Amino acid sequence: MSATTYRIMLLPGDGVGPEVTAEAKATLDVVAAASGFSIAYDQAHIGGAAIDAHGVPLRPEDAERAEEADAILLGAVGGPKWDSYPRETRPEAGLLGLRKRLDLFANIRPVRVFEALVDTSPIKPDVVRGVDLMIVRELTGGLYFGKPSRRWETSRGRRAVDTLIYREHEIQRIVRLAYELAGARRKKVTSVDKANVLQSSQLWRAITTEIAAEYPDITTEHALVDSTAMTLISRPRSFDVMVMENTFGDILSDEAAVLAGSLGMLPSASLNGKKPKRRGSVAVQMGMYEPIHGSAPDIAGQGVANPTGAILSAAMLLRTSLGREAEASAIEAAVDAALEAGARTRDIAAGGPAVSTAEFGAEVRRRLGGR
Ligand code: IPM
Ligand code: MG
Repeated sequence: MSATTYRIMLLPGDGVGPEVTAEAKATLDVVAAASGFSIAYDQAHIGGAAIDAHGVPLRPEDAERAEEADAILLGAVGGPKWDSYPRETRPEAGLLGLRKRLDLFANIRPVRVFEALVDTSPIKPDVVRGVDLMIVRELTGGLYFGKPSRRWETSRGRRAVDTLIYREHEIQRIVRLAYELAGARRKKVTSVDKANVLQSSQLWRAITTEIAAEYPDITTEHALVDSTAMTLISRPRSFDVMVMENTFGDILSDEAAVLAGSLGMLPSASLNGKKPKRRGSVAVQMGMYEPIHGSAPDIAGQGVANPTGAILSAAMLLRTSLGREAEASAIEAAVDAALEAGARTRDIAAGGPAVSTAEFGAEVRRRLGGR
């Protein structure tokens, strides 16, 4: 039997993106060598790096290559250098365009509090201990993509509009996915909306109620986004799967990262609704994987960024897009073990001794039996 080769597209991007992606890639290489499969990497610029190299935040030919890969591993996009660019040519447009092009409507952001870090969060240990929730963020609709969206000048001052629009099927597919995920977890879905004000949220709530009826063994909770922001830090253990509109998910997932001790800790997977393919005996689907943190320009290039979110994203990639459950779990266990042993990047060191991005990555890989 010939060895399996997987194709992974690397899009390191801007700021700390290249530094954390390098650690994630090195981690993939270690498990590949140990398990006897190989990975063919392709790489391209995205975001500000692509603007500087090619004049656009993502070249169509690079998006096409990304589309052909088994999975995409992305770092981060954006930075002050490109902040004054108009929206369509900003670094973020590269990422948003790729999400849309690949129809990656489902953004899955697991939030797990590591026991070794319960004292690192600014929230009390009693509150964060044991948190294990999953934010399911709608990623290709809502306020991010609704039209009209523009800024203009009038004789009576400047104006701007963004549009929060959802079509029935867009809500159905993300909510259904949340129920499927909850079925394999603690069987609770919290649907987050602003149904006391927004029409789009009222539709969201109505559709969620219909889908809930298809899953009688799953508990459904409807919650308003403002009070959810509060409950997320006061009683985070009350959540299992949380599903919500694009912008709400963007905001609440950064808040949820505080529970885990740092924005640098959390991974994410973005998936489309294509039918899973069979690869050997397992079902796999194409996806894009990225830490939820941004490009962190203030610490870029210093080798101090926390690569955990990127490394855990690589684990999600192995599990979902390559069907490599054993290797995914091994990486997660190695991250756990490295943290247990006291390895800390600066963001989670609480003023104590800290290791570099590369040293942290090496600590994880050492626990996988590699360097
Ligand atoms: C995220 C990021 C992106 C988003 C930015 C970089 C466009 O904040 O993935 O959460 O808003 O979706
Ligand atoms: Mg965000």
